[in-house]
Amino acid sequence: MKLVKTIDEMRDVRESTRKSDQRLGLVPTMGALHEGHLSLVRAARDKSNVVAVSIFVNPTQFGPNEDFAKYPRNLEKDSEMLEREHVDVIFAPSVDDMYPAGAVTWVTVEGMSDRLCGKSRPGHFRGVTTVVAKLFHIVQPDVAFFGQKDAAQVAIVRRMVRDLNMPVSIEVCPIIRESDGLALSSRNAYLNPEERKSALVLHRSLQRAENLFENGERNSARLMAAGKEEFKNESSARLDYFEIVDPDSLEPVTTISNRALIAVAGLIGNTRLIDNVIVDPQR
Ligand code: PAJ
Repeated sequence: MKLVKTIDEMRDVRESTRKSDQRLGLVPTMGALHEGHLSLVRAARDKSNVVAVSIFVNPTQFGPNEDFAKYPRNLEKDSEMLEREHVDVIFAPSVDDMYPAGAVTWVTVEGMSDRLCGKSRPGHFRGVTTVVAKLFHIVQPDVAFFGQKDAAQVAIVRRMVRDLNMPVSIEVCPIIRESDGLALSSRNAYLNPEERKSALVLHRSLQRAENLFENGERNSARLMAAGKEEFKNESSARLDYFEIVDPDSLEPVTTISNRALIAVAGLIGNTRLIDNVIVDPQR
């Protein structure tokens, strides 16, 4: 396994793999790896010959009062985990290399970037699409792997790739959860034992809406009201949004007649967590 810390070296490594006509799979991450990330790595291992994982805590996707400074960083532990998964290349560039002084160029997926998390985190998705576009240019993967856990990110990245004709296919992997239902997240490390219990409210709220849906309810307002209701009984949790949208356009859905994304975000203490489920009336 190669640990690559500069853009120049990453370009060299990419050139050498291209010569042998290998299919390169990229898993973009911000590190603090867990089984959710590793599920993407395993999918990449399955579907490509060369697996690259990027580890970069991207400053441009954090708001000024968010957790960029305290976001967990542990390259040594992450490297050990990736070594065990037989990853070929870790790309872990510095902030200065990725964003040289005077960098003012952005990739924005307009409209969609203001929905769901984009509403309460202005500029977040612009930071995501800019860094993902940069990673695609530097690493030049044939295929890139993303988690359904960040459903809006998936929709926005797919739209960027389509709109800008990027020569990469996007694979999406299912949400990995703890046994009690909590979706794995690097931010779960912030939760104290009390908050860890409260955090289950996200999954519970989705399950409540999903159960109603399975019993025939198709009206989004009623499903959303039921989901939001769960937060009223959980004093240390604050709801950010509970929405039902089209999974591709992120446009709100009023009556569910096609696949729909039920997405929730909330603050547990000071920790912002998200989760979602896809429902499909045709299934
Ligand atoms: P990060 O939060 O580190 O997540 C990296 C990838 O792992 C994302 O595609 C995310 O959806 C996936 N992932 C996280 N938790 C998961 C879970 N429980 N189950 C399945 N997949 C999971 O997402 C980012 O980083 C950044 O925005 C990034 C795309 C790297 C751009 O900076």
